[in-house]
Amino acid sequence: MSGGKPGLLACSLRSGHPDFLDLPWHLSLEDWTADTCARFVDLPAGDSRHAVVFVSYDDAMYALKELPPPEAEKEHDLLRRMEALHLPVVEPIGHARTRIPVGEASVLITRYLDYSLPYQSLFMRSTLVRYREYLLDAMAGLLVQIHLSGVFWGDCSLNNTLFRRDAGRLTAYLVDAETSEIHPRVSDGMRGHDLDIMEENVVGGLLDLTELGVMPREFPLYEVGGYIRDKYNRLWDQVTRKETINTEERYRIQDRIQALNELGFSIENIELVPGEGGDQLRLGVSVADRHHHRHMLHSITGIDPEEMQARAMLNEIRGVQAWLSAQQNRSLALSAAAHHWLQLIYKPTMQRLSEILDDSSDPAELYCEVLEHKWYLSELAKRDVGHIKAAEDFVQRRRSTE
Ligand SMILES: Nc1ncnc2c1ncn2[C@@H]1O[C@H](COP(=O)(O)OP(=O)(O)OP(=O)(O)O)[C@@H](O)[C@H]1O
Ligand SMILES: [Mg+2]
Repeated sequence: MSGGKPGLLACSLRSGHPDFLDLPWHLSLEDWTADTCARFVDLPAGDSRHAVVFVSYDDAMYALKELPPPEAEKEHDLLRRMEALHLPVVEPIGHARTRIPVGEASVLITRYLDYSLPYQSLFMRSTLVRYREYLLDAMAGLLVQIHLSGVFWGDCSLNNTLFRRDAGRLTAYLVDAETSEIHPRVSDGMRGHDLDIMEENVVGGLLDLTELGVMPREFPLYEVGGYIRDKYNRLWDQVTRKETINTEERYRIQDRIQALNELGFSIENIELVPGEGGDQLRLGVSVADRHHHRHMLHSITGIDPEEMQARAMLNEIRGVQAWLSAQQNRSLALSAAAHHWLQLIYKPTMQRLSEILDDSSDPAELYCEVLEHKWYLSELAKRDVGHIKAAEDFVQRRRSTE
C-alpha cells in the first residue's frame, strides 16, 4: 500500500453544489455513521456490493458510493453521457479520490433522487401495494428508452432501478451505470442480452423478498421477467416499427406522432421514403426523449414535474381552455388557460396542501392525488366539488389517519 495520510486526495465537482470538504474522507464509507459524520442520513437503499452513504446539505441530499479506482470516474462519465441523452438516470455531481486505511478509493457522488423508492419499499409498505403492478411497466419503459439511445445496461435489476411515483403510476430511473456501454446504436443481440440479464436479476430480486417473508404467496414470481419482456417488446415495436402508407393517407403520419406523444415520447425526426411506384411511403420516426408533456407544461407554466404528472396537469389546462373558450365565446390560447389554471387553481390548491407537505412528499404527486380525490368526491356528490374543497377534505383525511 502506498503511504500517506488518509483523507481526500482530489475531487472533481459540478458547480452549484457543496464542496463536501467537511465529510470524514479519512474513513471508508463503510464506517460513516451518524457518530462519525454529522451529515449522515439513514435512508432505505437497494442491496449493493459497494458501500453507499447518503449525506444531507441545506438544499439537497447526495448519495456517495465507494469503488476501487478508477471506477467512480468511469461511472460518473457514463452517467454524464446518459444525462446528455436525456435519459432518466441519477444526476452525477462529481467524483473524489481518497486515501482510506486500506488504500486508495474512488467515490462517486450523485444527487439523491428525491422522493424515490427502492423496489423493496413497494413490497414492504402496505400503503404502496397498489403501485406494484406499475413497477413492471416502468422497468420495461426504462429499458426501451435506454436502448433507443444506444445504451446497453449490462446489469438491469430491481436493485439498480429507483422508482418515483408519477400520477398514480411509477417512473423508473437507472441508478447503477457501472456495467453500461454507450454505442451509436444497440444491436438486437445486445438488447436480447440485456433482457436475459433483466429476467435473471428480477427473479433474484423477488426471491430475496421471499426470503424476507414479504412476498404475497400468490405472487407469480417466475412470470414477472417474461411479463416485462413482453411489455418491452410491444413498446419497442410501437416506437421503432416502419409502416407503409398510401400517399393519400397522410393523416396516418399525424396519428403515429400522436400515439407516441401520448406515450410521452417527443418526436425528433420523421422519415418518409417513397416506395416503388410512387403512391406509397415508408414511414418511420425517431424519438428525442420521453418528456413530451413535461416540455409542453414547462413552457407554459414553468412547472417541471414527472411526465405523467405533467400529462394530468395539461389535461386540466385543456379543460380550463375549453370551459373559458365556451364561456367567452372565442377560442382561448393554451398559454392563457395555463395562466388562469396556475393562478386560480394550482397555486391556491398547493397552498391548502402546504400543511401536509414535508421533505418526503412530492408536491406534484400530492396535487395529482388531490385531483383523484376531487373526482371521487364529485362522483359522490354528483357535481364538481372544486379543487379547494377536495384539497381541504384530502388534508383533513390525511391528518385523521396520522
Ligand atoms: N442518487 C441516488 N439516489 C437515491 N438512491 C441511491 C442513489 N444512488 C444510490 N442509491 C441507492 O443505493 C443503492 C446501491 O447503489 P448502486 O446500485 O449504485 O450500488 P452498487 O454497489 O454498484 O450495486 P451492485 O451491487 O449492483 O454493483 C441503490 O439501489 C439505491 O437504492
Ligand atoms: Mg447496484
